[in-house]
Amino acid sequence: MKNIKFNAVSATYSNGEGIKKADFTLNQREFLFLTGSSGAGKTTILKLILMALFPDSGDVQVGEFNSFNIKKNEIPLVRRQIGCVFQDFRLLEDRNVYENIAFVLRITGHREKYIKRKTFKMLAEVGLTHKRNQMPHQLSGGEQQRIAIARALANDPFVILADEPTGNLDAETAAGILDLFKVIHERGTAVLMATHNKNLVDRFSYRILNLENGKVVE
Ligand SMILES: Nc1ncnc2c1ncn2[C@@H]1O[C@H](COP(=O)(O)OP(=O)(O)O)[C@@H](O)[C@H]1O
Ligand SMILES: [Mg+2]
Repeated sequence: MKNIKFNAVSATYSNGEGIKKADFTLNQREFLFLTGSSGAGKTTILKLILMALFPDSGDVQVGEFNSFNIKKNEIPLVRRQIGCVFQDFRLLEDRNVYENIAFVLRITGHREKYIKRKTFKMLAEVGLTHKRNQMPHQLSGGEQQRIAIARALANDPFVILADEPTGNLDAETAAGILDLFKVIHERGTAVLMATHNKNLVDRFSYRILNLENGKVVE
């Protein structure tokens, strides 16, 4: 029963850019596209959800936490319920594929037996069990993004935030990544995907929020 709610959120950088009076809800288990040209404010919205940035006015509700009264030591608890996927994958280059997923489970304090079972489950979900001993640089961009998605899902977040997840991929690989997000959504995880790729968005019938000059338009 978890959602994300922006209540009249304004967040401006010192240069005046940012988000102006954003009002929207990402409903429980919803798939939502966040579109808008480069510089429109998509990443800023995701930072507000992660509480890496706080509103100048208004508030952001994430599950049981609210930006208005959250304590500093609770911010890791917010982030623990959120999976993140980025344009540039951000895998640990000095660890193999298996360890890239396993380490997030170690951080959350799971037992080794659980970590092994869960890591193999995640590898299977993204179809890359056979690549588990490879290093990230030995994988294609699409494969690296699949591992990043497996890692983002390992701790069973209620939502995945994806910031231009197909930005570094060719059209065919990008379509495959979108299909994977569709499956993840159908299995019960909410997805908020920021993208400026209109062609990809048009292939799906999910709700779209468009950002223009810091304003959110449904
Ligand atoms: N740390 C920052 N300091 C000042 N301005 C910023 C900062 N981050 C982003 N901006 C500005 O805020 C606007 C929105 O940025 P961003 O959210 O990154 O857009 P998008 O992700 O849609 O490309 C842009 O004009 C950008 O230059
Ligand atoms: Mg961005």
